[in-house]
Formats: sequence, structure tokens, C-alpha cells
Amino acid sequence: MHEAGTTALVNIGSLVTNDPALGNGPLGLIADAAVVIGDGRIVWVGRSSECGPADDEVDLEGRTVIPGFVDSHAHLVFAGDRAQEFAARMSGEPYAAGGIRSTVALTRSATDEQLRAGVARLGTEMRESGITTYETKSGYGLTSHDEARALRLATEFTSETTYLGAHVVPAEFADRPDDYVDLVVGEMLDACAPFARWIDVFCDRGAFTGDQARHILEAGKARGLLPRIHANQLQYGEGIRVAVEVDAASADHCTHASDEDIELLAASRTVATLLPGAEFSTRSPYPDARRMVSAGVTVALATDCNPGSSYTTSMPFCIAVAVRDMHMTPDEAVWSATAGGARALRRDDIGALTIGAHADLVSLDAPSHVHLAYRPGVDLIDRVWFTALTPKVNS
Ligand code: NIG
Ligand code: FE
Repeated sequence: MHEAGTTALVNIGSLVTNDPALGNGPLGLIADAAVVIGDGRIVWVGRSSECGPADDEVDLEGRTVIPGFVDSHAHLVFAGDRAQEFAARMSGEPYAAGGIRSTVALTRSATDEQLRAGVARLGTEMRESGITTYETKSGYGLTSHDEARALRLATEFTSETTYLGAHVVPAEFADRPDDYVDLVVGEMLDACAPFARWIDVFCDRGAFTGDQARHILEAGKARGLLPRIHANQLQYGEGIRVAVEVDAASADHCTHASDEDIELLAASRTVATLLPGAEFSTRSPYPDARRMVSAGVTVALATDCNPGSSYTTSMPFCIAVAVRDMHMTPDEAVWSATAGGARALRRDDIGALTIGAHADLVSLDAPSHVHLAYRPGVDLIDRVWFTALTPKVNS
């Protein structure tokens, strides 16, 4: 008998634990499995036939259960959308970092309530797509007040908050970018640090240089923030090298990664977070996930949900694209969207269904996790159990 207050999920046709010690292969697969949850944590995992009685029981009727998706890269605090920009792109216009400025103008003039409602709406969409933890960034305020406001609002929804004052140089600093960098590492950092766990820089064409990124990330580290970076989305550059140098938890995008970049990543503990929604929605070439995985790089998949380059909250969509167009196997893609995301957030309490981990899990109306890629565009999410995404307000 399990302890009082526990719930047993029984008759799971196929369970992905992400713990090779618990089951078969890298995903630690168990057939005919059960999971027992108590006090928001996993307290037992194994074969259904060996599971003792719990206070409550849920019969999964042969469904698949996976760890909740961990979305380690999203930009949810913004106002308005950029559907016209997307439509123009689909008619041949290229994607450029400058589009961010139009969202900045709308975000600055939005009320707290409007911004909060936007995060709540997208957070709900994410949960419905099976995401049980999400990170979110500032980056559409670009003043000390507006960046701090975005992060303060974000903390109402997630503990994985990222200061991205260095998203682009705002229009009012266009002819003096160095002054903007001074602001980002000075007064703006002071205003934002209390509300952020992470610091990020968009290191790319039209945004910030490698030297600026290094300087900004080091300043954040000195304030106790942990570094991550938008690297090499639009062109080859220094982003991945800087990520490894500053021991960033993750280098995100990595669309243009040289052999040297991949060697650096493979020899480091920096995760490469790939964002297939961005290449899909900007009609750009995909990063070479196959080459990275084969070289031993730890790869995560995330939505990059934002109004410019990737307005999706669907991790199953990202998995399907990663498998179809980035040549990941279904097993690799599911691992990257769960355990990989957890590594990119330097978390060991989520992303795997091991004893003591958060009871964040998703049942699928499918006989195996492979169906997430095999049945693109079909909503396979049956139920979502989550603790990590619990909003602190508006719940
Ligand atoms: O991750 N690349 C930089 N930032 C976002 C895009 C932001 C936007 O276009 O509004 C990204 O793709
Ligand atoms: Fe991004």
C-alpha cells in the first residue's frame, strides 16, 4: 500500500521515464507501467502488475505517458502581434532582427493587465500542448522600467525568468549602441536582477556583437544571474563560442554552427537549444541537429514562442518538425523536448519521471511517443499533471 494521499496512474501502455536505469534504452521505456504521485512528486515507478494500491487510482487504458515538456526558450511578455510581417515574409521578405522594435512600441504602451493576460493565455496554450515548465524572457521593453515590469509580471507565472534587455538596440539609441550596452549592464541590470534567474543576449546580425554579448553576460554573472544566449540564428558568428566561454547553460538557435562551434559545444556542458518553429516561420534552413547529436552535443528543443519569428506554443509541432526536417529520431526529439529542456535550465527535478522528481507528466492518446512525430498536427494530449508551472496569481 502506498502512503495516504497518493494517486496511482495505472495501465499505462508505454511509459517514457527518461531514466535508462528504470527501463529500456535512453528513454527508459516501460511497457504496462504505473506511476504513483504523492504531494506533487513521483513516489513510485514500475510495472503496473507490481504497483501496490494507492488512495486514488486513474486508469490510463493503455495510453502513453511521458514527462511534461520543458520549454526552455519563450518570449511571452509582449503586446500585439506581427501577422502582417509574417504574411510579407511568406511573400518573399526576409526576417530581420529590426522587427522586434514594432513589438517594443506596443509592449511599452500596454497596461500590466494586458501583458499579464497575454502571458496567461499563452501559458494556458502551452499547458494544453503538454508543456509543464516554461522559461520566459523580457526583451520587448528595452527601458529599465519596462524590462523590470516584464520580468516582475513573468515571475507571477514561472520561476524561469530571463533578463533580455540586450534583445536589440532600441530606436532611441540607434546611433549610440555603446550607451545602450552601458544601460543594459548598469541601471537596467539593477532594476531587473531581482526578478530574473537568467541573463540572455541576442548575439547576431542586427543585434549585439560577440564582444558586447561577452561583456553583458559577464556583468549578469557578477550580479548572480546565470547566462544563456541567442546564438547564430541569422549568420555564423561568435555566439556559440561566447556561450561556451561564459559557461552558458544553453546556446539557443545554433542555426549556423561551424565544425569548431560543434566541437566546442560537445566538449562543454552548454546545451544547444534548437528552435524549429523559428526556421519554420521564417522559412530559413534548419540547424543540423543530426550533426550535433552525432558529435555528442546535448540538444534541447523549445518553442521560442514570440510574435515575430515563431508564434507557436506547440511542443508536439516542434518535435514533428525536428524529426521531419532536422533529422532527429523520434526518440531523440522527445528526449530533447523533456530531459533536454531540463538540462538547458540546469534542472534535475523535472524532465524525467524518476522518484522524487516533480509529478509533471502527460498522457497521450497514442500507443507510443513516436506518434508525436508520426501524427503531425493532431492533438494527442489527453491529460496533463503539473506542479512546476503553477502560476502564483490568477490561478
Ligand atoms: O528568438 N532572435 C531573437 N529573438 C526572437 C525573435 C523576436 C522577434 O522577432 O520578435 C527569437 O527568434
Ligand atoms: Fe528567442
